[in-house]
Amino acid sequence: MEIRDVLQALEEEALAAGVPILRESEREALLEACASTAPKRILEIGTAVGFSALLMAERCPGAEIDTVELDPDRHARAVRAIADAGCAGRIRCHLGDAADIIPSLSGPYDFLYLDGPKGQYLRHLYLAEPLLSPRAVIAADNVLFRGLVESGDPVPHRYRTLVMRLRDYLAYVRAHYDTAIHPEGDGLAVSRKKEERYE
Ligand SMILES: C[S@@+](CC[C@H](N)C(=O)[O-])C[C@H]1O[C@@H](n2cnc3c(N)ncnc32)[C@H](O)[C@@H]1O
Repeated sequence: MEIRDVLQALEEEALAAGVPILRESEREALLEACASTAPKRILEIGTAVGFSALLMAERCPGAEIDTVELDPDRHARAVRAIADAGCAGRIRCHLGDAADIIPSLSGPYDFLYLDGPKGQYLRHLYLAEPLLSPRAVIAADNVLFRGLVESGDPVPHRYRTLVMRLRDYLAYVRAHYDTAIHPEGDGLAVSRKKEERYE
């Protein structure tokens, strides 16, 4: 099957089953950030059913992708979809907790897409940083989390830890990378290594 056909089937299935996949409004910003590095290798945290991995594979036909998922059913669906799309040779699906899997991988990765547990973005970035190439770009989804992260509005108690952790993530990437936030959807932060770090 063509990648496009598999993507369409996955999207319909994910919407019906309530599986979270990349929102349409954020897709172009992610794919543009990804393609801008002409990546040879991509690392994604949070495969779900393989939708965003296949989107990146379609936009960047020369790239190999490692993608990590904790949920065995989602991982299995992703493996099947990726095989159906003829991409099994260049997308490797890892099953397990990203905090355990990332240290077992070897870089360099030119693009890192953080789309796993939002409260763990900074932890996952720290683990992945040694694997990033000098020109790497990092994208993180949902960083504005329902507008609560940067608005100054009161944060409901149940979201306080998550919002605090996303603020910590943004403070870190703003201090150490050139970071822009695409506000479409729930906010996609795109961070590029600062050139002076390599002078
Ligand atoms: C928003 S979904 C990913 C969507 C996917 N990137 C897409 O757009 O098609 C987040 C995924 O992260 C997975 N996840 C949660 N905790 C994780 C962990 N500790 N390690 C790896 N994956 C995790 C969830 O099971 C879920 O499928």
